[in-house]
Amino acid sequence: MILGKQVRLRPPERDDLPRFVQWFGDPDVRRHLTVYLPFSLAQEEHWFEAAVQKVERREQVLLCIETAEGELIGNIGLHAIDWKERSAELGITIGEKAYWGQGYGGQAIRTLLDVAFREMNLHRVFLRVDADNARGIRCYEKVGFQWEGTYRDAVFREGTYHDQHVMSILETEFETDEQ
Ligand SMILES: CC(C)(COP(=O)(O)OP(=O)(O)OC[C@H]1O[C@@H](n2cnc3c(N)ncnc32)[C@H](O)[C@@H]1OP(=O)(O)O)[C@@H](O)C(=O)NCCC(=O)NCCS
Repeated sequence: MILGKQVRLRPPERDDLPRFVQWFGDPDVRRHLTVYLPFSLAQEEHWFEAAVQKVERREQVLLCIETAEGELIGNIGLHAIDWKERSAELGITIGEKAYWGQGYGGQAIRTLLDVAFREMNLHRVFLRVDADNARGIRCYEKVGFQWEGTYRDAVFREGTYHDQHVMSILETEFETDEQ
């Protein structure tokens, strides 16, 4: 268990998978993710097996986000961990829509960045976010992520192309006292 201010992070268990299926079955949750079709439980189980292997090879970190009261609301991870460049890509989903816009995403990211910079000794954490994902962009800016650039027409969704921003935060920019 990793304790944050408003959230706690813990490794995913097989029992969590039906909740993941439920979240990614919701088009509103999927809209800004690379997931464009709902998953079956069997697909989710295959994904989980592969994810556990990647965690064991230290290629990624994958954690569930719970409220301080223990309610499972989402997941968060560091992917494509590059131990030479000391960089990784952050991904996050608050799957429970009722919890959007209440600070949980920001707190989960802060909690994970604390581990990334102060335990894993990473230097840079970046993410990709759809240019029209205003909630996501606002959340990342609040944490301290900076805009790096824009991939033009990088995402095809709902019949049209959308730009995607790259944002990043360096270890020197992360303010741990906000925890
Ligand atoms: C993106 C996501 C992780 C953000 O987490 P969150 O808990 O909702 O974000 P926070 O509450 O920490 O911060 C959101 C900020 O955006 C603001 N906001 C909410 N809706 C908004 C909107 N439609 N437009 C602009 N800002 C908005 C909130 O008010 C808050 O800012 P504030 O604290 O200044 O008021 C979460 O909403 C989510 O998982 N969404 C669905 C999947 C997704 O988009 N994943 C990310 C892919 S890059």
